Amino acid sequence: MSNSLLRIEHLTKVYRIGSIIGGTKITAVDDVSFEINGSEIFTLAGESGCGKTTIAKIVLGFEDVTRGEVYYSGKRIDNLKKRSEIFEEIQAVFQNPFTTFNPLRRVESYFYDTLKNFEISKSKEEATAIITEKLKTVGIEFDEFYHKYPSEFSGGQLQRISIAKSLLTNPKLLVADEPVSMVDASLRMSIVNLFKKLEELGISILYITHDLMTAYYLGGRIAIMFRGNIVETGSTERVLSEPKHPYTQLLKESIPQPDPKKKWSTRIKLSDLEEVEYVSTGCKFAGRCPYAMDICRKERPPYFDVNGSKVMCYLYK
Ligand SMILES: Nc1ncnc2c1ncn2[C@@H]1O[C@H](COP(=O)(O)OP(=O)(O)OP(=O)(O)O)[C@@H](O)[C@H]1O
Ligand SMILES: [Mg+2]
Repeated sequence: MSNSLLRIEHLTKVYRIGSIIGGTKITAVDDVSFEINGSEIFTLAGESGCGKTTIAKIVLGFEDVTRGEVYYSGKRIDNLKKRSEIFEEIQAVFQNPFTTFNPLRRVESYFYDTLKNFEISKSKEEATAIITEKLKTVGIEFDEFYHKYPSEFSGGQLQRISIAKSLLTNPKLLVADEPVSMVDASLRMSIVNLFKKLEELGISILYITHDLMTAYYLGGRIAIMFRGNIVETGSTERVLSEPKHPYTQLLKESIPQPDPKKKWSTRIKLSDLEEVEYVSTGCKFAGRCPYAMDICRKERPPYFDVNGSKVMCYLYK
């Protein structure tokens, strides 16, 4: 596709957990490919530990790849030594805005520093004008923001402020990892609406979530992940209204509750079934799938086209 902004090809990330001797390896991301176009929302969804954050970290350059390639605007970026060339164009929105800002520092200092460090503005007046404009995009007035500490804002306000900060460098892609899970349910939709507005302004968003409701509302395209694989991908509307993969069907019924305090380090002990799923040569979902056939346990299914979606499941052969 000519409009491709981010392209991921056969991405694999293997982590070693435990000691070098008695430890195990986990394929956190297993042969994942997808593409995000300009001005598009693309969602990664799936249960805890399926590899969403690992993909986000790789796209942001925080983590090396084990195998595979990442392209941005047609240029390979996973092997870049100097990330600064594209740093301004890909920005992150983190889960907890309170950890983005130092509680003892006034929030505006981050904005002025960013504009200065990136040489985006030449004077304080120019910087203030840019900050005012970016805050306006997220629905916040400069006066209600200026000279305040992070604790003086609500979680929803601070998340919008952190998004405004990400916009300072005029990024083309925002990587938003669970950006609403720490925000009050009543304020969540205002952030989700903001993402829709940013998409209209020409910004693409890699949206990562447990929450299928917000994913559905955002639209665009979605990839459902299970144990490092994308098991189903297509238009969000179609995938969530008529899920084809047995795992997507289960996920839709059981919408798992996100636990923002849970980090990978706290769930490093995997159940026996989970361990088997990570290393399975067949379909990783076969152990739980009500429709599993012999072939599912032996060979990883390829993707089958089903009404415009791609589904990694032999049911659609
Ligand atoms: N630095 C690391 N070292 C070892 N294992 C890791 C590391 N980071 C992630 N993992 C493991 O890789 C797998 C994928 O983790 P990842 O954080 O990408 O999942 P996730 O989909 O973002 O989950 P969640 O929804 O809980 O945020 C998990 O099994 C996790 O334990
Ligand atoms: Mg995560």
